[in-house]
Amino acid sequence: MKKIDSLFEQTQDEYLRTRYVANLQNHAMMNLRFDVRNAYEKSVRPEFERENGRSPETGHEIYKAIGNNLFFRSYSSIRYNAQEMMPRSKQAAVERNLQQMIDAARDIAIENPAGGTLKTDSDLEMPSYITAVDVHLTPGGYHTEFTKDDVAQGILLGSGHAGPPINPGRVFGSVGHSISPWLKHTFPDFSPSNILDLGTQGGSNLIAYGKEFPGLELHGIDIAAPSLRYGHAKAEQAGVKMHLSQQNAEKLDYPDSSFDLVVSSFFLHEVAVPATRRIIAEAFRVLRPNGIMINLELPPHKSCEPFIDFLFDWDCNHNNEPNFRNFRSQDPTKLLIESGFSDDSTFEKTIPDVATFSKEQYADLLSGNTETPLHGRGGWFVFGGKKN
Ligand SMILES: C[S@@+](CC[C@H](N)C(=O)[O-])C[C@H]1O[C@@H](n2cnc3c(N)ncnc32)[C@H](O)[C@@H]1O
Repeated sequence: MKKIDSLFEQTQDEYLRTRYVANLQNHAMMNLRFDVRNAYEKSVRPEFERENGRSPETGHEIYKAIGNNLFFRSYSSIRYNAQEMMPRSKQAAVERNLQQMIDAARDIAIENPAGGTLKTDSDLEMPSYITAVDVHLTPGGYHTEFTKDDVAQGILLGSGHAGPPINPGRVFGSVGHSISPWLKHTFPDFSPSNILDLGTQGGSNLIAYGKEFPGLELHGIDIAAPSLRYGHAKAEQAGVKMHLSQQNAEKLDYPDSSFDLVVSSFFLHEVAVPATRRIIAEAFRVLRPNGIMINLELPPHKSCEPFIDFLFDWDCNHNNEPNFRNFRSQDPTKLLIESGFSDDSTFEKTIPDVATFSKEQYADLLSGNTETPLHGRGGWFVFGGKKN
């Protein structure tokens, strides 16, 4: 039986286009940002100070002030265009073999060699924050199903591409490999028997958690069926037993006290603010006593200088991520406490990204001897709590 990823066959031109666009995106995010900072320091900030008698105090003030600056506009248009071109560079290859991909996912689900499960729910109502815009400028967003048992969006948005990672600053799976050693270091007695990943997409992080905590029972939910079908096929083909279920994280169908570990990554900023509260409350409900919730997220406004806020919030203004800024304006610890976590059991921390450092550097960072770099620059912001 053909592996689902091997059916994603790009022509030479398509492959090169994908690589080119990825590098363009990387260049904008990793290099051009420095030019934007220089332009800000040299001209935008002094002008703002002359006019207002003070420096900009928020990212939004910087965004308004920088509007027509040439460096910012170049950076912004390169990022926007690269973002928009990425799904387009992959779409033809997805469409060409789509039926074979759907068949492969269906066949492996019937054969079920690893013993995992996949539960989809065609009646599940999609919240408006999912359907209102094409998230990340990807036509169809996460949830759209164009045909029966569709996997297209899963492959388009997942890691179903040839070659090295194309997501700048991001190695798929490194989230689980980064959080796990930090958890072991910080909570040495914590020994989870199962995990639930909220907004798991194709479950790639679950695989990492499974490797880090041998014997861990892996569960993931997502609102979008195409990613779950794709993720289930990949896991079964890789011999990883994983239980994936289509659910809205705002209303989980698990009984109280079901999980030792509840995680999420790059998820909470995608949903509307009232939904984040419901999701954290649900996570608290399904956690067992002494269980831990940990979310890898964008750092909140309160912990960033205005210029960093301005950079992070680019996605809110240009990348169809309408909830980004509002999510970041919240206080993560308050969110946790409102959901039932006790004050002394919560944490907010920037932890080292395992994919960025050597083993020795990583151990040094974990022990706190060296300061962890900023989120997205070798560090990841996490927040969470332990249920008493
Ligand atoms: C940016 S992706 C993050 C994927 C993955 N956690 C990672 O780290 O790569 C956000 C995911 O959240 C899912 N999602 C959005 N709203 C949801 C909700 N209310 N319940 C469950 N999943 C949701 C989307 O379908 C998408 O797969």
